[in-house]
Amino acid sequence: MSVNILFAAKESDWSEYEAALATALGKAGIDFNLSNSQSADFSAAETDYMVWSPNSVVQDFTPYTRCKAVLSLWAGVERVINNPTLTQPLCRMVDRGLEEGMVDWVTGHTLRHHLGMDAQILGQNGVWAPQTPPLARHRQVTVLGLGPLGSACARMLRQVGFDVAGWSRRLKDIEGITCFSGADGLRDALKRSEILVLLLPNTAQTENIINAETLALMPDASFIINPGRGPLIDDDALLKALDTGKIAHATLDVFRVEPLPGTHPYWTHPNVTVTPHMAAETRIDSSAEVIAENVRRGEQGEAFLYLADRKTGY
Ligand code: GLV
Repeated sequence: MSVNILFAAKESDWSEYEAALATALGKAGIDFNLSNSQSADFSAAETDYMVWSPNSVVQDFTPYTRCKAVLSLWAGVERVINNPTLTQPLCRMVDRGLEEGMVDWVTGHTLRHHLGMDAQILGQNGVWAPQTPPLARHRQVTVLGLGPLGSACARMLRQVGFDVAGWSRRLKDIEGITCFSGADGLRDALKRSEILVLLLPNTAQTENIINAETLALMPDASFIINPGRGPLIDDDALLKALDTGKIAHATLDVFRVEPLPGTHPYWTHPNVTVTPHMAAETRIDSSAEVIAENVRRGEQGEAFLYLADRKTGY
């Protein structure tokens, strides 16, 4: 019997995902019936798996009584994990395409700040005044969050040559990276973060982890790069730290409200770079393979990959 898979993600993504999912499901040997939520030829109660993203029309999971798993196309699941109607297992997306994109973006923005590129790009004023940056190995970079994305970025930054530390809820062991955990570990990690990269999930525990108190621990004139989630930062505290020069520059890809409202002070602050939540996107072909593998696992009674945990919130 065919497995009914409902694509209930962003409507405009359907045309591209349809072919990629069909290919990946076929390769995984699954006999499937794949439909878009707008034109499904099976009912909610007949849905076996749901491919989902926060911009889905489906926000009430109650009718999906037979659904074995909700498979998120997004890495961050904070917009669904506490949905009281979601009783089905939820899997977050861990996609090598998304991971590679994140590594590219984080490495690029870290190098921008490390090398002081803005001074050259924006300062074409006829004045010949070389300023040699320190070597990467003399620059302390800290990554908060050592999940798949944070650890991939930490590894690449280490490969580039930076002196890299990372902090996570549970202590990790990553070759070449100084790993911290716990409250004391967070303080130690921040004290050495000349460039701080935020890749933590958005949970009750991580909300406002960057606040007046934690910002004060960072070295003077340090940099913040946030491709994680907006609520990790207390925005008022960051704006104050930017005004005093405690933080030299913040490169922010994610915000509490997205799109970032046109009147938000981040847009006009001279020491803030706003990018439109584009640091890393789920890539269609590689994520389709992850979805297909999870459907295969579900059908064969194997444990799902990347199962979200309601207790930790990610
Ligand atoms: C994007 O922000 C994602 O969570 O995948």
